[in-house]
Amino acid sequence: MPIFLSQVNRQTRLQYWSGIYVPCVQKLPNNINPLDSTKNGTKQLEGEDELMSYMAAYGAHHYHKLQAAFLNANLGILHNRNIEIVDWGCGQAVATAILLDFLLAKEIFPIINRITLIEPSNDALQKGLSYLEKILIGNNDIGVSVRQVCNYLHEVSDSNVKSSAETVKIHLFSNILDIASVELDNLYQLVIRTNQGINKFICTGPYNPKRCRIDDFRQRFSKEYTLEDEFCSDQRLAHPYWKLGNNKSPPYSEYNITRYEQQFTVRL
Ligand SMILES: C[S@@+](CC[C@H](N)C(=O)[O-])C[C@H]1O[C@@H](n2cnc3c(N)ncnc32)[C@H](O)[C@@H]1O
Repeated sequence: MPIFLSQVNRQTRLQYWSGIYVPCVQKLPNNINPLDSTKNGTKQLEGEDELMSYMAAYGAHHYHKLQAAFLNANLGILHNRNIEIVDWGCGQAVATAILLDFLLAKEIFPIINRITLIEPSNDALQKGLSYLEKILIGNNDIGVSVRQVCNYLHEVSDSNVKSSAETVKIHLFSNILDIASVELDNLYQLVIRTNQGINKFICTGPYNPKRCRIDDFRQRFSKEYTLEDEFCSDQRLAHPYWKLGNNKSPPYSEYNITRYEQQFTVRL
């Protein structure tokens, strides 16, 4: 059953910043250092405290990085189109949640035929699904339209992620391509085997002076296909976020956020 963004109840729906990020900061027990409990964001998360820690430590950075990316993604063309969202290494579905928030705020209403969440931590996956349900209030049974793939990327089979050739696919790679254990060539082959038609890739990550892995991934496509709507940025952002030791209630102070981003569209 498709998800109609136009049907979302915009009065009662959860918003990412006020409804997910800020409550995680505020509920985080004072004796937990979120950087330690998530091993600086690299740990495969288990249990409420670790999930909350990740959101408190990184939820604002990802929000600001993705908002900046979506502003340059020409998403207006998705209005009234049939789309699918694929969130690779989704964690708590942060990237999908922020994308939905962005589309709703801009009144861009695509028809979402399916959301695919791929993530090895079942705790993170279930938390992500519960966030999406609260954002998409007004659409019944959204669970039916969300395909959950609880696996590492190298374990994902074609049938787990195969999409429809008729939809526009939005592929979200948020803070995942930099992870050394993600095999880029396997991932590229999986993506091109399973996604015919129009595919939009939005890849974000921390600033890395060598930038090699996000660029390597993009280059695999550019060698074989014509890329459109290309956009790349490593410009720092300055936005508010909570830091350990500061007051947990907003407004938060503004700090620099470093990032690297590549976007492109390709017809496969
Ligand atoms: C830095 S977090 C990013 C999560 C989410 N995309 C975000 O932006 O918040 C990295 C995520 O990738 C997952 N992960 C780690 N290695 C993976 C792999 N080989 N395949 C798929 N996911 C992986 C982790 O469980 C974690 O949720």
